[in-house]
Amino acid sequence: MTSFPEPSLRAASPWWQPRAGGYLRIEGGRPLTGTYPISGAKNAVLPLMVAALVTPHLVTLHNVPASLDVAVLSNLLQRLGTGLSWRQGGVGLSLTLCADRIHEARIDTALVGRMRASVLLLGAIVARCGEVRLPLPGGDAIGLRGIDFHLAGLRAMGATVTLEAGIIHAVAPRGLRGAEIRLPQPSVGATENLLIAAVLASGTTTIANAAREPEIIDLAACLAAMGAVIIGAGTDVVTILGGRALGGAVHTVMPDRIETGTIACAAALTDGAILLRHGSSFETGADLLGAAAPILEAAGVALSPAEGGLMARRAPGGLTGVDIQTRPYPGFATDLQAPAMALLATAAGASAITETIFEQRFKHVDELRKMGAHIQVQGRTAFIRGVRRLSGAHVTATDVRAAAALVLAGLGAKGTTILDGLDHLDRGYDGMVEKLSACGASITRATP
Ligand code: EPU
Repeated sequence: MTSFPEPSLRAASPWWQPRAGGYLRIEGGRPLTGTYPISGAKNAVLPLMVAALVTPHLVTLHNVPASLDVAVLSNLLQRLGTGLSWRQGGVGLSLTLCADRIHEARIDTALVGRMRASVLLLGAIVARCGEVRLPLPGGDAIGLRGIDFHLAGLRAMGATVTLEAGIIHAVAPRGLRGAEIRLPQPSVGATENLLIAAVLASGTTTIANAAREPEIIDLAACLAAMGAVIIGAGTDVVTILGGRALGGAVHTVMPDRIETGTIACAAALTDGAILLRHGSSFETGADLLGAAAPILEAAGVALSPAEGGLMARRAPGGLTGVDIQTRPYPGFATDLQAPAMALLATAAGASAITETIFEQRFKHVDELRKMGAHIQVQGRTAFIRGVRRLSGAHVTATDVRAAAALVLAGLGAKGTTILDGLDHLDRGYDGMVEKLSACGASITRATP
């Protein structure tokens, strides 16, 4: 294992520089073959990093993806006084966090505005420090993305929460107390925020209608390793026995199920065969994909268990249109909606994709149309009539998953695709361009 020069835990910002900016040039039409190492999950690592704030002891995370969002959150945490130490080796990066002190007044407004997951700081800091002022979080423009469930949950736990001029102010000078909370809908972020806060609250908290995503199981496992008692993570009722003394923890971030599903689509779309290698043992089979696995298989993405991961290739019958409705886990993940649309754009027959989670998550449709896709949107449903082949075009990514979808479309298309808006890709994926190149893709990054 190599380690970078590190004068002290507290001085170490990410020494690795996340890839960012520029544009991609993709020459489509090459079948992708080989092994693609799946990174630690973006949507697991961010709450796990915030969870390190609940203990003054060391928390080490393995399999951390070197993505832009991770770098931004690292900088945010460092500004708050958290020590960070990075190591390379084994699986992904390893990050040790030390939140022995928190300067809650040092929240960086600009950094909070760059990512949605910064809202998770709310529960952790108010529970630990008794007060927090947090600007409204940023993130992908894919819908309204309210935070009312987060605020109502914290109020139920005894915090006084106000929202004025874009700043959330939460105060609980005598600490949070356990509460019975029912989420209006199973929000991933609200479940995570309240789960993190509840381990420091006195007494028992129950979160009903909780989100059941695997990332919540991963978060609960890490908190449990610190000494928290959490029952039911991964079901719709999570119970937390709060107020226990917490120690440090060592935890391996679960593999990214969205990257897994996306690259499985890339294998089928290019008529290649890719071993999706999972670097941690969380759940390596198709089960990780929930309801997406049988739907992708029906669309012609053949998935089979393989040593260390999952094998993905095009089914002998070719790509076929299917209907998809995005749903909270274990339903079809909204984060796979755009990549699935890129796949179905060249599947035989008709497909319909209904987006039920985010009301503005079809911004990739216009870009896919520029490449020759036949897609009509009516309300929350996109109707797709598969064409034989897409054609390369100049397209722009508007969010993380749209970026991945356009990469896929470019890999399958005839001719050259130029993809702008690369910051979106870099926010969510660690080394996707390099990993696809290693599987035979003609894909290069250029600076304007
Ligand atoms: N919602 C509210 N009020 C709230 C919270 C949520 O109205 O207080 C609504 C949202 O507007 C949305 C629905 O509830 O319509 C579900 O949102 P959720 O809270 O579950 O989403 P999130 O926590 O903001 C996370 C992921 C998203 C992923 C969704 C759904 C992270 C950092 N983000 O967002 O990931 O799409 O869960 O699975 O974990 C992505 O990775 O590209 C991404 C957007």
